[in-house]
Amino acid sequence: MAHLNGHSVDNPPKEKPRTHLTDVGERELYFKGLEIYERDGFCSTCHQRDGKGLTASGFPPLAGTKWVLGNEDRLIKLALKGLMGPIEVLGKQYPGQVPMTPYEGLLSDEEMAAVLTYVRNSFGNVASAITPEKVKSVRALTDSKSGFYSPEELLKQHPHEDIVQ
Ligand code: HEC
Repeated sequence: MAHLNGHSVDNPPKEKPRTHLTDVGERELYFKGLEIYERDGFCSTCHQRDGKGLTASGFPPLAGTKWVLGNEDRLIKLALKGLMGPIEVLGKQYPGQVPMTPYEGLLSDEEMAAVLTYVRNSFGNVASAITPEKVKSVRALTDSKSGFYSPEELLKQHPHEDIVQ
């Protein structure tokens, strides 16, 4: 039977990914985001498929961090322009000599909204979905900014909220 279905017995089809999101549009963004997250050279390459990062290599986790769960503008800005400089994530200091890739030229507004909606709602995270319209407005707002953001610069613009963690 397995043979007839085109599935090898040793290699069963991957379990279907699931999400707690219920809104149809948000679910669509989430599954699109999962595909982008796991592309070669995208987020999972550094932050790992489980969102736990690789601390020893300077890649911080995405599970449970204020940067992921907090202010939407701050998250969109760092994903558009990349990030470099000392950063504290979950109480741990990273020297920040390894830069994070800027994605403004690699992802459309919809793709960016998708991958950020995915990270805000995976690895145990639960936060509002990011809309393509929101990405579009932050992209326009930061159009003239060149180079990476530093964590310090972003925290001046958007201090961490106390509600998370
Ligand atoms: C080349 C490796 C690399 C890739 C690819 C990458 N990042 Fe990062 N990311 C980093 C590094 C390094 C930092 C910390 C930068 C610093 O030290 O200032 C970081 C920081 C972050 C932070 C803030 C800190 C935290 O851990 O919460 C977020 C959020 C984030 N990345 C999300 C993403 C998303 C989403 C993607 C895919 C669209 C992505 N990253 C792709 C290396 C990467």
